[in-house]
Amino acid sequence: MLFEPYNLAGIELKNRIVRSATYEKRANEDGFVTDALIEFYKDLTRGGVGLIITGNALVHVSGRTSSQMTCIHNDFYIDKLKRLTNAVHRFDGKVILQLIHGGRQCFPDLLGGENPIAPSEVHDPSTKITPREMTNEEIWEIIDAFGDAARRAMYAGFDGIQIHGAHGYLVSEFLSPHTNRRDDYWGGDEGRRFHFVEEIYKAMRKEVGNNYPILIKMNVDDFVEGGLEPEESVRVAKRLEELGMDAVEVSGGMYESKGKTCQIDILKKEQEAYFRKASRLFKKELNIPVILVGGIRSKNVAEDVLQRGDADLISMSRPLIREPDLPNKFMQGKEKADCISCNGCLRFKKLDVVKCVQLKTV
Ligand SMILES: Cc1cc2nc3c(=O)[nH]c(=O)nc-3n(C[C@H](O)[C@H](O)[C@H](O)COP(=O)(O)O)c2cc1C
Repeated sequence: MLFEPYNLAGIELKNRIVRSATYEKRANEDGFVTDALIEFYKDLTRGGVGLIITGNALVHVSGRTSSQMTCIHNDFYIDKLKRLTNAVHRFDGKVILQLIHGGRQCFPDLLGGENPIAPSEVHDPSTKITPREMTNEEIWEIIDAFGDAARRAMYAGFDGIQIHGAHGYLVSEFLSPHTNRRDDYWGGDEGRRFHFVEEIYKAMRKEVGNNYPILIKMNVDDFVEGGLEPEESVRVAKRLEELGMDAVEVSGGMYESKGKTCQIDILKKEQEAYFRKASRLFKKELNIPVILVGGIRSKNVAEDVLQRGDADLISMSRPLIREPDLPNKFMQGKEKADCISCNGCLRFKKLDVVKCVQLKTV
């Protein structure tokens, strides 16, 4: 099944392998697409992956998570982004842009010294940051920014967009009872915590129309005390489906939960696909496509996930940093990715670009 074509909300994919969103550190300091970023995406496309989800792209300056991340918070960015989508399409690839606001997981040095913003002033022991609570006006400004970014992504030729609703960034913070302690339209109970992502979805849909794919990556579990848990996250996904969301990618964890998103030392088959139980749960409740990410390393594990109906598509990040042509190698008979899940690629502050630190050429 892995190499069977798949129609994802109208996007014809040549196989069921997705490159999960992965920050590349290849935009320039102002967030514009560079030749290096385009070459990187050409390599990925030629490597045979069915769908690429880009590294998180910034919708508003108050949500910057990293230096040299791709930006889309202004119309100025559209032309260069178009070069990127053209490059992927020229090699018969498909590419979706992931949109982010980093919320409390931003660092003041990337925000001109400003304190990060968040639903509530909940201290993050992992970063030692206590964010500032957003005003109602600021919340609407960010919702509009997501809508504007969606329109720009469509103009730039992306095949769709993905809301980064996972890993403890702003959208995930509003959904989480741990980081959202508000008692207003935006928080206080499950229904109100849902409003932020709901309004973002509606703002985007208004901009891009009914036929443009909108996906979300979301947490099944925050893995922190009092955080989002599977029962509620499935209900969130169901509500999103009812609104018209086209697909959901299942992940988990936040900075504070330490090591749950990108688990290390995935060396045995039993350790692979560590959110599989969660995606099975989502598959049971949802009719829209479910994408599984997290620790998929072997062709037969990926195949088994699909055969058993635990997900509709499988998604990988770290293995494709090491081997952008892994899908072609799988097709030619390779069984297992070379990635050893050491997370050296995650220490990107020290790296010039995001890359595999195990390779000799580094
Ligand atoms: C270097 C690096 C950058 C990442 N950047 C993003 C990102 O921009 N957006 C996102 O949703 N996840 C990001 N992730 C998480 C991955 O998409 C994925 O969820 C996680 O690595 C688990 O999948 P894997 O085991 O296949 O690597 C990143 C992971 C790594 C290692």
